[in-house]
Amino acid sequence: MGDVAGFVAATYQRGVPVIQFPTTLLAQVDSSIGGKVGIDHREGKNLIGSFYQPRAVLIDPGLLDTLPRREFLNGLAEVIKYGFIADPEILDFLLAEDGLKKGLSGQKRIRLIARCAGIKAAVVSQDEREAGYRMILNYGHTTGHAIEKVTGYSAVSHGQAVAVGMIVAAEMAHHLGKLNRDDVELHRRVISRAGLPIKLPQVEISALLEAMLLDKKYGTSNRFVLLEEVGRPVVVEGVPEEIVVKSLLATQEE
Ligand SMILES: NC(=O)c1ccc[n+]([C@@H]2O[C@H](COP(=O)([O-])OP(=O)(O)OC[C@H]3O[C@@H](n4cnc5c(N)ncnc54)[C@H](O)[C@@H]3O)[C@@H](O)[C@H]2O)c1
Ligand SMILES: [Zn+2]
Repeated sequence: MGDVAGFVAATYQRGVPVIQFPTTLLAQVDSSIGGKVGIDHREGKNLIGSFYQPRAVLIDPGLLDTLPRREFLNGLAEVIKYGFIADPEILDFLLAEDGLKKGLSGQKRIRLIARCAGIKAAVVSQDEREAGYRMILNYGHTTGHAIEKVTGYSAVSHGQAVAVGMIVAAEMAHHLGKLNRDDVELHRRVISRAGLPIKLPQVEISALLEAMLLDKKYGTSNRFVLLEEVGRPVVVEGVPEEIVVKSLLATQEE
């Protein structure tokens, strides 16, 4: 919703001021911050858009009381992403938390949102136009977007796709000698604990590879955001296709 409102504000009379008032967990921790606005086109998601910073982002965590569980999980996948790329304490918190399935209690919810929103703001202020560093926010998303595309944007939600995408990225990092096995398993533990999937429904690996090739951030260079260790993301180019395939296979249901 905020993407469309932001896009309208950016283009109406060549730009009018906008304040974002996000009502989903995903928007509160991610999409309302950073100024990416846009709309989808038949040819691709977010194909028409711009960078347009809001004057302010007003977050009321109480709004999440009515948020459907599927939407809450979409946001939780981004929360987990921040844990892995920037703030491992978030992962400890999620593993220790009993109230996750109920959407978290007041103070805990506020603290978690504030922490994630802070990470997003810090990353985009260093690299507003995604020249490089901002790309780390794409952790799990290259595979995630491919899964969404191949499954027709309905069977698998964004959060579920990104969750599996992060496991694929962890497997890849392990095969490239970066992440140890324990940290790969940490991905599975945190993601399952949050109620998100660690396995893919049956999809053709070749269809996923093809979808990835059409992703401009993956392009022809097999580019992925991977972890050197938890909290230390790097952008890696030229991941050998056999490692991509092996890592995808590790998330296939038998
Ligand atoms: N700009 C960015 O950086 C960025 C980052 C990530 C995702 N996105 C985009 O954001 C979009 C998804 O936005 P979203 O997750 O905020 O979802 P949304 O605005 O599409 O809302 C999802 C659903 O939840 C309902 N809903 C929203 N708030 C509610 C509440 N408080 N109580 C009850 N129901 C509520 C809505 O009516 C809708 O049915 C996607 O198109 C995605 O591509 C953008
Ligand atoms: Zn996302």
